[in-house]
Amino acid sequence: MINLSVHPDYATLCRELAAQIAQLVRQKPTAVIGFATGSSPLGIYQELIRLHREEGLSFAEVCAFNLDEYYPIRAEDPQSYAGFMERQLFNHIDIKLENCFIPSGDSRSIQEIQEDCVAYEAKISECGGIDFQILGIGRTGHIGFNEPGSEIDSRTRLVHLDSITRNDAANDFGGFENVPERAITMGIGTILEAKQIALVASGEAKAAIVASAINGVVTSKIPATYLRAHPNVTYWLDEAATSCLQA
Ligand code: GLP
Repeated sequence: MINLSVHPDYATLCRELAAQIAQLVRQKPTAVIGFATGSSPLGIYQELIRLHREEGLSFAEVCAFNLDEYYPIRAEDPQSYAGFMERQLFNHIDIKLENCFIPSGDSRSIQEIQEDCVAYEAKISECGGIDFQILGIGRTGHIGFNEPGSEIDSRTRLVHLDSITRNDAANDFGGFENVPERAITMGIGTILEAKQIALVASGEAKAAIVASAINGVVTSKIPATYLRAHPNVTYWLDEAATSCLQA
């Protein structure tokens, strides 16, 4: 079932979603949070940083798992999601970096990648599973880097990126041809095991894909439609992102 949480603007959405995460962390200091990259969660991270600085919200015992990483990429490359998370959140709160997990983008053999993907899933289970997963949505309807064609029971794995996704990342990489063709992502099955999911979308550019994800046929062509199989998903939207939803 899909719940909608619609807000007049992105700033309000971020404040309210961050407040919900803060409440979870206060109730359960050892909460396991699934973080996302992209522009959609940035305002939430800003607000979590403010809550840490001004209201003493502590992440000292929180465990973090990120959805995905480009492949191949070095953690120190400016476009890596590892660097993104440190710059946008982890370096500004008291989370312990040893409790922050992101699939490695290091170049290695396919067999090593597969072993690491299995280990990533095992680590999530060892930490007790993800309590709260934040998601964005790509223009292809991807969640994490689960592009069209991803199956509902897919697990953490190496994937090929859709050319629409590579186009959207072209500016970050200084051109389409510099965007990695592959990535490592948690699977849809992995994401659906999170106890609670918040998908964040703002702006008119996301309105069409949001409407398809919520109202369209459930299909691997739009991986976000699989979220309807989850009992506790909320779409956090600003008004512009709702403009294609039927009244
Ligand atoms: C990337 C990330 C996704 C994210 C998507 C949308 O592809 N891997 O996790 O949801 O971008 O990004 P944005 O929020 O910038 O629109």
